[in-house]
Amino acid sequence: MSVNNHINANIRYVGVDDTDIALFENQYPVPRGMSYNSYIVRGEKIALLDTVDRSFGPEWLAKVKAELAGAQPDFLIVHHMEPDHSSNIAMAMAEFPAMQLVASQKAIAMLPQFFENADFSGRTLAVKEGDILDLAGRQLKFFAAPMVHWPEVIVSYDIEDKVLFSADAFGKFGALCYDDDWTAEARRYYINIVGKYGAQVQNALKKLSGIEISTIAPLHGPVLTGDLGRYIGLYDTWSSYRPEAKGVLVAYASVYGGTRECALEFADMLRSQGVDTVVTFDLCRQDQSEAVAQAFRLSALVLASVTYDASLFPPMAEFLHHLKMKNYRNRTVGFIENGSWAPIAAKLMKEAVAALPDIETIEPVVTIKSRMHSADKEAMKTLASALASKI
Ligand code: FEO
Repeated sequence: MSVNNHINANIRYVGVDDTDIALFENQYPVPRGMSYNSYIVRGEKIALLDTVDRSFGPEWLAKVKAELAGAQPDFLIVHHMEPDHSSNIAMAMAEFPAMQLVASQKAIAMLPQFFENADFSGRTLAVKEGDILDLAGRQLKFFAAPMVHWPEVIVSYDIEDKVLFSADAFGKFGALCYDDDWTAEARRYYINIVGKYGAQVQNALKKLSGIEISTIAPLHGPVLTGDLGRYIGLYDTWSSYRPEAKGVLVAYASVYGGTRECALEFADMLRSQGVDTVVTFDLCRQDQSEAVAQAFRLSALVLASVTYDASLFPPMAEFLHHLKMKNYRNRTVGFIENGSWAPIAAKLMKEAVAALPDIETIEPVVTIKSRMHSADKEAMKTLASALASKI
């Protein structure tokens, strides 16, 4: 499928849509696929910006050749070495023998790791912060963006048209042929892919705040124009670990439905207490990457889990593991536990949450035995009230 993501007559989109992929990074569900973006930037010299995933090499090359119309690219700029963007480097370097590879020194050092038998000697140009590549009539300036999302990442800025080629930053899940809402899938992408590196994203945002940007061209998702402040503002919120909205995520893990019943009734109690935004999430059946994204979106979290093998039920343990990996912090958290003879889930959830910075835990812990009983509702109401007062 051909998607028009072109920027102007001299900056052309040659990326591809992957509508067959089920799991991005072999772990995150992408029911609406993924785009791997690549661009051609023309001055008198021509730069090809990044390649695409391995499966799409021939399709990408055909698009590149059609756009070049017989011209030869002078440079291949590699912003990021992760294979969804770099798999076709060796093929492209063989196809265009006069082309020089431009990347950070760290990226160049990684080339032999991914391309054991390829010989790029004499054909690489290492660039660093502030370097400018002159395309004759157009200049690209480079900025280092380490850990957004790997250490070797650079972004580039077209000085003439004020286009920021932002690598993974400002990308989203979803193929371009699906015209879906940017925020939800950009949030799920950012939190799960780059969320651990908020400090580094903050550094990059500060560095780039001094330049005038009219267009953001990421490596996934649509080219962004118009009110860029909205996108940059969301990135500032996400990377500084501030909630986007006041509200509560009630995330539950239930074996036979007792914990679920209690969690859903608790969510209703929160609504009765005037909390406008309450999201419930079944950690056993719904996409955990979306649960993590919702936890980051909202200001408070209630963890509801059954006890299992004298431990946490694995879906809850997995959720807590992901929260820790992504540096979840700066939120309010409450607990509901279930157990038929020796409930221990709350103790374990509390221990996991205690390892996270800047978390305020809310009492009381609600403990139910097997099923929710009317006698449990007083503690549930007290927790709901205490939490509502914090929202
Ligand atoms: Fe889209 Fe970090 O690669």
